[in-house]
Amino acid sequence: MGQPRKLFIRTYGCQMNVYDSERMAESLSGYEQVASPDEADLILLNTCHIREKAAEKVYSELGRLKGLKATNPDLRIGVAGCVAQAEGAEIMRRQPLVDLVVGPQSYHRLPELEARAREGRQAIDTDFPAEDKFEHLRGRRAARGPTAFLTVQEGCDKFCAFCVVPYTRGAEVSRPPERVLAEARDLVERGVREITLLGQNVNAYHGGDWSLALLIRSLAGIDGLERIRYTTSHPNDMSDDLIAAHGEVEKLMPYLHLPVQAGSDRVLKRMNRKHTAESYVRLIERIRAARPDIALSGDFIVGFPEETEADFAETLALVERVGYASAFSFKYSPRPGTPAAERAQVDPAEADDRLQRLQALLTRQQRATQDAMVGREVGVLFERPGRMPGQMAGKSDHLHAVHVTADVAPGMLRRVRITGSAPNSLAGELCAG
Ligand code: SAH
Ligand code: SF4
Ligand code: F3S
Repeated sequence: MGQPRKLFIRTYGCQMNVYDSERMAESLSGYEQVASPDEADLILLNTCHIREKAAEKVYSELGRLKGLKATNPDLRIGVAGCVAQAEGAEIMRRQPLVDLVVGPQSYHRLPELEARAREGRQAIDTDFPAEDKFEHLRGRRAARGPTAFLTVQEGCDKFCAFCVVPYTRGAEVSRPPERVLAEARDLVERGVREITLLGQNVNAYHGGDWSLALLIRSLAGIDGLERIRYTTSHPNDMSDDLIAAHGEVEKLMPYLHLPVQAGSDRVLKRMNRKHTAESYVRLIERIRAARPDIALSGDFIVGFPEETEADFAETLALVERVGYASAFSFKYSPRPGTPAAERAQVDPAEADDRLQRLQALLTRQQRATQDAMVGREVGVLFERPGRMPGQMAGKSDHLHAVHVTADVAPGMLRRVRITGSAPNSLAGELCAG
């Protein structure tokens, strides 16, 4: 065998893209991954289309790569992910240096596309093929740290009025539970201690007659797997058995990302969310009854078309009622082809102002949640050296970043007493034993 070619992947967007990037790298057997685009023979940009800024980043990055192509005629450049799906061949028209375009459901065809691109032939695949890409991807082979993502569900049938995901990722599809369990066992054998199950609507998982709750209970039986998380969930798919699992399955971590988007029923209706602010708050109460210490996270959009100041005040009120451990908030970005893009837009300066006010409140809540951990004992899975010499860093059960000054190996799960709280992390000391 000759020298392996060199692959550089840059990943944008959500955790599912992180997972997909790993699987793409694993599928390209003649390549080894490198840390810089300068050395690469193949550069893949795994892209995100969720907001305009995310999509535009791809074109500015492609512009920067131009110089590399001039110095290395063997370099091939590919665009994968949600921009690839949304724009297809248009990407090559707008930026002719692109050799390959592959949508998220066609990654198993990447080796073939790469070969075509090497021969200077057209290499575009943005189909939604009938076959399951996961069955055609090679087994997991990369070296592992203690945490891993595992996609169990993909696509979305919800069609929120602002969102491109149903178009870029296609219809909801779940992987068979036995495949998920086999992949999880394989990851654990490679040293993984924590698995985060991924799906655009992961709690809509239905592998045969298996629910997500059943899948979690089954995964919890794997020796050596210490922690289970899942993301992202939709409020309407939060079933009774999943809520019960939060109280019963010890390995299921007390953290839940449950986006609500807005606090005004008028806005929620126009977003096509199919739930109300009140039904969301009731749901949170039931989840907290099952697992009182659960850390809650969410996503919010401000400046959705026709959102008034009174609507926005209801978002602030909802946030006050729930109390989030962390949350993400975005200014509405009109996306081509989605229903809301056609509607009357909110003044951008007004939307900016709302975003700042919401973020200030969410930051206060995040700090308060963190500060309340001081003096408590939590589980921490250590992952890597911290920023200061002698430090090790990891994540708590509630997904707080925690560092200790102690000799503890990556992959160790230890009890830690929290001693201090900084803006984005907690300091702690190992408990005895
Ligand atoms: N599937 C997940 C989230 C998908 S996108 C879910 O339903 O919860 C992640 C977040 O991006 C969304 O929750 C939403 O808050 C935000 N988002 C999606 N489309 C957007 C748009 N057009 N403008 C601004 N934010 C958007
Ligand atoms: Fe987008 Fe809504 Fe589907 Fe989430 S549930 S991916 S926000 S359409
Ligand atoms: Fe972005 Fe696609 Fe994920 S649009 S958020 S990369 S599903």
